[in-house]
Amino acid sequence: MKAYDELVELALEARQMAYTPYSHFKVGAALMTKEGKVYKGCNIENASYTPTNCAERTAFFKAISEGEKEFAAIAIVGGFEDKEELGLCTPCGVCRQVMREFTDPADFSVIVAGPDGRYKVNTLEELLPDSFGPDNLG
Ligand code: THU
Repeated sequence: MKAYDELVELALEARQMAYTPYSHFKVGAALMTKEGKVYKGCNIENASYTPTNCAERTAFFKAISEGEKEFAAIAIVGGFEDKEELGLCTPCGVCRQVMREFTDPADFSVIVAGPDGRYKVNTLEELLPDSFGPDNLG
């Protein structure tokens, strides 16, 4: 199992692959399974804008498509390509809902790296309270 700071390092690695010719805002994510395997993802933009995929969803879709089902944590880093400092890149609502589909919100950590080199850790439940998920249809 990787420590959170190692996961943030892997998210920074993933960010280098971001395809962002429109926003120039580069995001990287590193998603860790409960067994400790890590899937990296970056944001991938599109000239038609709407098909843009966030880094978090890229990481989740890579993992799910490889058969992963149990997730422990995701680290996220983001910021403009021409700035040294990272922004506090908290996941968008769509990504939170995708996380909700594949995790137990009370037992999944979202680690967001901030400009001061520190990071903020929340459970998904804190970021998406009273959520609608698979149980609502089960
Ligand atoms: N973006 C992410 O990849 N993750 C987030 O949590 C927020 C936003 C991307 C989408 C788009 O490519 C760029 O950042 C600006 O919104």
